This record gives sequence, C-alpha cells and structure tokens, in this order.
Amino acid sequence: MWTLLLVGWMLLPGCWALTGPEEIRGYVGGSLSVRCDYGKSYTDYTKFWCKKRYFVGLCSDYLYIEIPSSRLMKTKGRVSIADDRRQLFFTASIVNLTEEDSGPYQCGLRVTGWSGWHEVKVTVFPGEFLICFLAP
Ligand SMILES: *[C@@H]1O[C@H](CO)[C@@H](O)[C@H](O)[C@H]1NC(C)=O
Repeated sequence: MWTLLLVGWMLLPGCWALTGPEEIRGYVGGSLSVRCDYGKSYTDYTKFWCKKRYFVGLCSDYLYIEIPSSRLMKTKGRVSIADDRRQLFFTASIVNLTEEDSGPYQCGLRVTGWSGWHEVKVTVFPGEFLICFLAP
C-alpha cells in the first residue's frame, strides 16, 4: 500500500523536480530571497516565482515573474529572478517588502503542457526593531 503510494508520488513530476525552503521571513522595507534547486533535466525549462491568491491555486499577476530558458536574469518592479544553470538552482528575490507581501508563493518550472512547483510561505514582520525584544 505505502509502496504504491510512494511510486505514485514519484511519477508525478512536480513532486521531485524542485526543492526549496518551506518558509522564509523578512521585514517591512527589507528584502528576501529564496533559493529553489531543480533537477538537471529541468535546466532548459522556464522558471517562475509568484504569489498565490488566497483560496485559489492561481498566481496573482503583480508578483508574477518568469524567465524563459534563453535568459538568466529578469527584474520586474520589486521582484527578480536569477538562474544558475551550472549549479542547478534559481533565486527569487523581493525588495522593499510590505506586510501585504506575506502569503503563499510558488517557485516553479514550466514547459509547454507541464508545470511543477514548490510552495514557500512568506512572512513579512512589521519591523526589524522587533529583534531587539525577541533576541536581546
Ligand atoms: C526601494 O526603495 C528605495 C527607497 O525608497 C527606492 O529608492 C527604490 O527605487 C525601491 N526599489 C524598488 C525596486 O522598488
């Protein structure tokens, strides 16, 4: 039974194509970056990073960014993405964070007819001064 489940899971490309942190934190006005590692066979796929809308499995446009396989870097407003194909990871960054940036995100891979992603929870705290109270 468990073996069958495991085999089924391994056959779903999205489940193992990509790994990354479960959660990442930042502060209002600061920045954060997320590293997502992918398998060697995904080098030429389009990479994307986006924010999921609440309750819907779709990504919202204002924080959606992707790089086609022909590019290594792209910036759109406060969001950027950079691909390191030699070391098989891409890094997604957000600068000038606001509390509204908190929420579930996806770093993903796409090719015609298929996409796979890893979900990352982003939490933006009100201010860095909190560190003084939490970790004196
Ligand atoms: C981030 O904020 C700084 C200071 O307000 C501003 O100069 C800069 O253009 C902002 N960067 C982006 C990408 O919005």
